[in-house]
Amino acid sequence: MNILLLGSGGREHALAWRIAQSPNCTQLFIAPGNPGMVSLGTCLPGLNPKDFPAIVEFIRKERIELLVVGPEEPLVLGLVDYVLEQEDLAELPIVGPDAAGARLEGSKDYSKAFMQRHGIPTAAYRSFRADEIEAARAFLRELNAPYVLKADGLAAGKGVIIAQTLEEAEQELGEMLSGRFGKASSCVVIEEYLHGIECSVFIATDGQDWRILPVAKDYKRIGEGETGLNTGGMGSVSPVLFADEAFMARVEEEVVRPTIAGLMVEGIDYRGFIFAGLMNVDGAPYVIEYNCRMGDPETQSVMLRIQSDFVELLLRIGNGALGDYELKIDPRTVTTVVLASEGYPRSYTTGQAITLPDLPEGAMIFHAGTKSEGGMLLTNGGRVLTATCYGDTLEEAMERSNHLAKSIRFQGKNFRRDIGRDLLELGQ
Ligand code: AMP
Ligand code: GLY
Repeated sequence: MNILLLGSGGREHALAWRIAQSPNCTQLFIAPGNPGMVSLGTCLPGLNPKDFPAIVEFIRKERIELLVVGPEEPLVLGLVDYVLEQEDLAELPIVGPDAAGARLEGSKDYSKAFMQRHGIPTAAYRSFRADEIEAARAFLRELNAPYVLKADGLAAGKGVIIAQTLEEAEQELGEMLSGRFGKASSCVVIEEYLHGIECSVFIATDGQDWRILPVAKDYKRIGEGETGLNTGGMGSVSPVLFADEAFMARVEEEVVRPTIAGLMVEGIDYRGFIFAGLMNVDGAPYVIEYNCRMGDPETQSVMLRIQSDFVELLLRIGNGALGDYELKIDPRTVTTVVLASEGYPRSYTTGQAITLPDLPEGAMIFHAGTKSEGGMLLTNGGRVLTATCYGDTLEEAMERSNHLAKSIRFQGKNFRRDIGRDLLELGQ
């Protein structure tokens, strides 16, 4: 089967790695891809996932039989609708929802209202537009600190503000509603702060049935001990033992089932991944947010744990035929440590030469922000590479990922040495 995967990050490298191992994969194309993927398929640096006509032309030219969309932006912009509107491609299996489904991520106001309509547990909230600033201030005063403010639209992971004081919250609110994140914050969601511990649950669905992929936890802050600025994610761990059988049974009944049922009732034929960011509040799951795609860097850990044929899973999602697919999971622990450029998540330098070590057994290096120039591998982003390793225990996986991260060399390399440590301390 000829497969086209869209995206260029560490998440897509991990997806490509798993896809390329399937006997069902004849040819894999990745648009635009990155230097880490060149041994797995054909990278198409000139093909932009947001250039819908060019994607369609490529699908026709290469007789693509399965389209897999990695990032959220083309989904929110309606890529899937555009492809399926083409008469000859109306039956093409696609992994990734149409624009209606992608609103779960594209609009926080919509996703909160969706959760409320379908009885899915989430923090109490209200949303406000620019002309409702007085009402928004009054609502803030009804809440206790800390205050959570969210830009309604996509803001590249930066649209959530947690303010410690009412004064700070009011100031942030004013800035957001007056266009701090452009159109994305013309509407702001204000919600109750939830106290608990977070995990990432990935639901693979064909619009009717679902499978829950291995649960992961990601580490969002730049500094050890979850300090400093928010990033796209500095590491991940899977499994997460506090997400035990009892918790996951509640997740399935209280979150997954009503989410899929809600989508069906609303006439949304959702085929793809739903990433539910959950807060475990004393054993009860609350949805912090939905994303319409897999997580990065969670995917890097999750892909190492999937043992059953991944292309078959993708194809069944795209064909609306998940049916009796048997998901097999590797029981080992996987940890992913992200190597970032000096300065990230603020401005950072690029173009530094990278030296990679020989890959030990049971380890992967996924590329996120790299480029190849004159036969040299160079840094080309804030998050550059991930060191992803199996371990028979969490401790062993952490040790091995840290060791691998240390042995990768480039000027200004920064990584967290504590990915997974909080779980160890919880007595995982
Ligand atoms: P998001 O971009 O929605 O993932 O939010 C970024 C981060 O803000 C989340 O991963 C949480 O750590 C935190 N957060 C968002 N909403 C809440 C909430 N209602 N209570 C506590 N923390 C939250
Ligand atoms: N790791 C969080 C995300 O992908 O949004």
